[in-house]
Amino acid sequence: MANFHLLVISIVLMGSLVAGNFNDLTEITWGDGRGKILDGGKVHTNVYSQGKGNKEQQFHLWFDPTAAFHTYTIVWNANRIVFLVDEIPIRVYNNHESIGIAYPKNQPMKIYCSLWNADEWATQGGRVKTDWTQAPFTASYKNIKIDGCVVISGASSCASRSTDSANNAKPWETHELDAKGRNRIRWLSLLALVLLSPVWADNFYQDTTVTFGDQRVQMQDGGRLLALSLDKISGSGFQSKNEYLFGRFDMQLKLVPGNSAGTVTTFYLSSQGAGHDEIDFEFLGNSSGQPYTVHTNVYSQGKGNKEQQFRLWFDPTSSFHTYSIVWNSQRIIFLVDNIPIRVFNNHEALGVAFPKNQAMRVYASLWNADDWATQGGRVKTDWSMAPFTASYRNFNTNACVWSAATSTSSCGGSKTESVNNDQTWQTQQLNANGRNRLRWVHQKYMIYNYCADANRFSQGFSPECKRSRF
Ligand SMILES: *[C@@H]1O[C@H](CO)[C@@H](O)[C@H](O)[C@H]1NC(C)=O
Repeated sequence: MANFHLLVISIVLMGSLVAGNFNDLTEITWGDGRGKILDGGKVHTNVYSQGKGNKEQQFHLWFDPTAAFHTYTIVWNANRIVFLVDEIPIRVYNNHESIGIAYPKNQPMKIYCSLWNADEWATQGGRVKTDWTQAPFTASYKNIKIDGCVVISGASSCASRSTDSANNAKPWETHELDAKGRNRIRWLSLLALVLLSPVWADNFYQDTTVTFGDQRVQMQDGGRLLALSLDKISGSGFQSKNEYLFGRFDMQLKLVPGNSAGTVTTFYLSSQGAGHDEIDFEFLGNSSGQPYTVHTNVYSQGKGNKEQQFRLWFDPTSSFHTYSIVWNSQRIIFLVDNIPIRVFNNHEALGVAFPKNQAMRVYASLWNADDWATQGGRVKTDWSMAPFTASYRNFNTNACVWSAATSTSSCGGSKTESVNNDQTWQTQQLNANGRNRLRWVHQKYMIYNYCADANRFSQGFSPECKRSRF
């Protein structure tokens, strides 16, 4: 093994440039047989307990970092440290020794990579442990590239360079952001701000509590990701700590993959007690290769019977998609990836109850319903596939928090007029584009509509069925 103390380094991990070889450049520090060097040393697969070593990460990525290899780079010279992702600078740490801030420049460093258990989250207030039934967890490294100054016996390989013209200062030694790099950093903060909204996405640790399933609820990534699992003994679920009276609620979900028959994954709003209100998204699993059913319903004062069901136009198990409920005093809109799939209007004038007087919590759960969920209950849950797992992330609420203690809304006003700050969701309705989208969904993907089930409602449809679906 090479002795590679580095004084100044630039490394590319998971890169595509001239790749170094893990056999030559690295040695396994711990984990015994769990660290494996494959493909002649080009792919390093390490197997660990679940964990996260990069405590400096303060950004959400603009891609799914588990779907493909991406390049993470550290440039370290005497003046600054630049962190890059796929060549895009995400952070610059300048040498500010002149104003008394220590800067790493006198000690050689090695490169370390690891994957480890993050049970310490539990001691920071988390209740959820690593789910060892999912072990082993695996992360892969490839194309390590090091362009640095190697220190051997106290001497740097870059020291003799002044006499060697072929070995003049390398780009990384003076690396700084040009205009493009500065724009990239600006772009990144804008992206994080506008599109990904990770900074104020609700945190599962802070904003939710486990309702059932104990360790089957796992919070990861510092509370930004939550996984629910279901086994033969129990499902699992969580709820928001807050109660809300109107708002927009977004959740990204990745549903149980493979044979999910008999499982139901939910994301819904509900009040408590008799005569409750509820707004439901339920995802009914299916046999491998068969489509999920998205089931929606609205309960007002204890009464439901407003089911509409849909297929999805994508595989909801292969990546995260966004499911949203917009709830204001005039209507409820269900959206999938921002495409409206259903509008439930307030038709109190026609005598149809509408949920608007009871505060609701956000709930999510994964449970077994093989007595009815899949193909009418004919297909049962295959427990040999357990545990089943669904993942939630980027839980976002833009809503009026209701305080039962003081009977006040964070939006001001009383229950009946909580629309007094100007947020889009409070008056949201479909525009022409939204109506077109909804028509498209209804035409191609709607598989059940309570307003069209004459057998079930032989006494006649509910009055709102005669009104516009927008
Ligand atoms: C499961 O797949 C079957 C066959 O494609 C389909 O009829 C059914 O609606 C799907 N969904 C559920 C929840 O049964």
